[in-house]
Parts: sequence; C-alpha cells; structure tokens
Amino acid sequence: MFRRVYLDNAATTPVDPRVLESLLPYLREKFGNASSIHFYGQESRSAVDRARHQVADLIGSRPNEIVFTSGGTESNNLAIKGLFEANRRHGCHIVTTAVEHPAVGSVCERLANDGAKLTVVPVGAGGCADLETVRAAIRDDTVLVTVMLVNNEIGAVQPIKEIGAIIQDLRAGGHKLWLHTDAVQAAGKIPVSVEDLGCDLLSLSGHKVYGPKGIGALYVKRGVRIAPQNIGGHQERERRGGTENVAFAAALGAACEIASAEMGENAKRIARLRDRFEAEILEAVPDIVINGLEGPRSPYISNISFKGIEERGF
Ligand SMILES: Cc1ncc(COP(=O)(O)O)c(C=O)c1O
Repeated sequence: MFRRVYLDNAATTPVDPRVLESLLPYLREKFGNASSIHFYGQESRSAVDRARHQVADLIGSRPNEIVFTSGGTESNNLAIKGLFEANRRHGCHIVTTAVEHPAVGSVCERLANDGAKLTVVPVGAGGCADLETVRAAIRDDTVLVTVMLVNNEIGAVQPIKEIGAIIQDLRAGGHKLWLHTDAVQAAGKIPVSVEDLGCDLLSLSGHKVYGPKGIGALYVKRGVRIAPQNIGGHQERERRGGTENVAFAAALGAACEIASAEMGENAKRIARLRDRFEAEILEAVPDIVINGLEGPRSPYISNISFKGIEERGF
C-alpha cells in the first residue's frame, strides 16, 4: 500500500486548524466592515488591530509598520513599485539577484522596461550573493536593493544583515537608497528581525506558514515612503486601498503567533527530517548532488539533482 506524503510545503502549507478556528467567526457573525464606526465595524477593526500586532511581533516591528496585502506577490509588487515610484527623484537604479522569485524578478524587469536601470547580481554555488558584488553593483543613482532572505528553490539564506549594513553606511553618507527583502520563505520558519536585518521593506505570506492563501503582509519601516498601488480607499494608512479582509488578516495574525511560539521546535524537527531524507536518498541513489551545501540554508528546503535526469516542465 502506498502512503501519500506531502513534500511541497514550500509551495503551500495546509491551514492549521487553530488558524481556521480564528478566522471562522469573521466569516459568520462578525462580518462588519473594519472602517465602519458602529459596533460591528469596531469588532472587525479590533480583529485587524490584533492581527497587526501578531504579525509585527513575529518580525520585531511596530504594528503600524505592517500593511496587509493579498499575499507575497502583492507585497513584493507594492514594495518594489511603491518604493520606486515614491522615490524616483532620488535615482532610477535597482539592484537585485539572479535567483529572486518571479514576484520580484518580473516586477524589476517590468520597471526596467518602463525606464528603470537594473543590475542583476549573480549568485555563487551555494545560491548566495557575494557581498562585494552587491556593494559594487550599487551606484550613485541606486534607490532600491531587493534581495530575498531565503531562496524558495535551494533554501540559501542570503546575507541580508550584511547588505543592510552596507546600505546603512551609504545612507549615513547621504545616499538615499532602501533595502527590500522577500522573506516569504523565511518569516515564521527561521527567526526574522527587521531591526537585526536592517531592511526597510519585508514581504511575507500567510499560506507558507499554515495560514490561508490570499493574505500576506508588507513591513514598511516608519518614515519610508511608498506609493500605494491599490488606490481608491484610505485603508492601511493610505498604503493599500480596499476593504480589509478581516477574516484572513485574523488568520495571518494567528498563524504568525503560532509560528512565533513553535518556530524553534519546528525548525529542529524539520532539520532532523531533512537530514534523514537526504541521507536516505544518498544511500539509495549515490549519484546525486545535494544543492546549497556551500552556504547557510533553511532547514525547510531540500534541493537535489539526480545525475543524468533532466528537469522537465509539466
Ligand atoms: C520567495 C517567494 N516569494 C514570493 C512568493 C509569492 O507568494 P504568494 O504565493 O503569497 O503570492 C513565493 C511563493 O511561492 C515565494 O516562495
């Protein structure tokens, strides 16, 4: 008998039953619009506020630095397009890496087609960008550096803290530029502190951490200007118009709170499973390459090449 094993949690995770419980009341009796001033509205408003605190706690930010979005893709779009549009007068050059998720890569390409200058930094064997190469790519007209925290294919952990330090140094010298990191594969899985990383914008997504699909958040550091990409409402402190998705915001908050509490244990357990998984495959099929061993990698992702087997699209 075959037992089906789900090994695609980097693509999406099932919803944690505790998360599901937290969102259901907001799809049933607590249906108010969070912008309404009456009881129903205020009930929803407090749910969104609570969720904002829970998300902020996960990454060590202030609650009002959290903007709810429809997921990682929208967070990346809002961060990159929003920052670029609001700060165009400071420069038109963007630095990114060759291994970004398309939700970053394609956005940068779109901006480049529309007149932005773009430098795409290559990565080394372990999937990590070299600090000196990143530093060398930054020019006087660079306004944005966008580098992911954990790569979704290899699990490489990029040196964001070190890149943050380079940017802070440049900023101290008067250069106006900002750092965005796509932390969709990191937040809730490995410790993430925006303070520690020194980033200005950070994207995260609910469905990678046992929350529902279609909800995410963007951290926008206090004082950093972004142009809203969804206009037509004053929600999210003018940074993202549209009636709040109260139920899913509550779910993201719950998922973040659970992740904060359980991350340490989970990461240890997953690292053990990952090591066992790789050791057993290596024993059964010695002619493999485990990718990403040259640098730091997330315990949540295992990337293996089988020699002689070509990757085929579906
Ligand atoms: C690194 C990374 N960024 C962004 C995304 C997109 O997130 P979402 O599916 O929430 O739009 C993903 C999803 O696979 C991802 O792995």
